Amino acid sequence: MAKGGHLLRVSKPDTRKMKPMQHILLDTDIGVDDALAIILALNSPELKVEAITSVSGNVHVDLCTRNLLMTLEAMRVREYPICAKGESQPLIKPLVTAAHVHGSDGLGDVTRLLTTDGSRLYPDPEPQLAAMAAVDLIIDLAGQYPDELILVPVGPLTNIAKAMIKHPARMRRVREIVLMGGAFETYGNVTTTAEFNIFADPHAAQLVLDFGVPITMVPLDVTHQVILTGKRLDAEIGERDDRLSQFLRDATRATMEYHQSHERFYGTYIHDALPIGLLTSPEFFETVEAFVQVETSGDLTQGMTIADLRSERPRPKPNARVCVRVHAEAFLRHFFDRILR
Ligand code: RIB
Ligand code: CA
Repeated sequence: MAKGGHLLRVSKPDTRKMKPMQHILLDTDIGVDDALAIILALNSPELKVEAITSVSGNVHVDLCTRNLLMTLEAMRVREYPICAKGESQPLIKPLVTAAHVHGSDGLGDVTRLLTTDGSRLYPDPEPQLAAMAAVDLIIDLAGQYPDELILVPVGPLTNIAKAMIKHPARMRRVREIVLMGGAFETYGNVTTTAEFNIFADPHAAQLVLDFGVPITMVPLDVTHQVILTGKRLDAEIGERDDRLSQFLRDATRATMEYHQSHERFYGTYIHDALPIGLLTSPEFFETVEAFVQVETSGDLTQGMTIADLRSERPRPKPNARVCVRVHAEAFLRHFFDRILR
């Protein structure tokens, strides 16, 4: 008999309360934090990952596409989501990458690691790509899941914008876009004012904001509050020596070293995992409605996201929800409980 005389009840999830399955398409410039987001998404029972599409950003889309398949291989995924290769160049700007943060291969330079016999520890994966390009797959799935498909772009918005240009009527059936990007009440990470995903293709970002599909933005304001330190990763992995644990260590090492020398902490942000968490566990987050615009031409401010988040100020009709708070430790606990379950 439990203290207080109440019988202990072993509660079971009341399936009636379980949220309906959310159909998502993850669009990504697979860098290190993107890989962590993919692992979290595929370990989230609330989500059906219908497809994963690649886009140039952290590194060129050829490498992103290889990184996507390498990540799925490291996870020993039994049933791959549909994977399609996306756009290599932004709408207007020349491509800028972030290989200095994510390694020259975009995945922490794991492709350079060798086994004792000199073979690659992470060999090139078997090609398992859809015949169609990412833009066409996005349009196709928006038609297969009308008013249900949620797009989760965690890189530059080039693929999403091109799908809207190519088939606007079909893309208006997208349920929501939950994206990692922007910086509002904090500095940027690629310039003083701009966050990388928006900076890399500001014209695509503005087009997506103008399009009219409900948007939730997860900006640096919250993603910079969630830091995965090397010490924490070691503690969470513990004695495990499975393929995924080894991959987590190997893929994060270079970016942790980057932050050690540039931001004086041995660790990495897990930016792209937060939009996944927002979908499965919204209780860890707080958002406000806002009217967001993107600077597309400023010499010093190109890629800056502008919005007045002060709730007491009248503002133009909101065009997005902006995430302004995260319970960082609760989210990190959730993240590890899922990816290492
Ligand atoms: O600014 C952070 C974003 O830029 C993340 O999506 C990271 O992967 C890079 O693409
Ligand atoms: Ca990314």
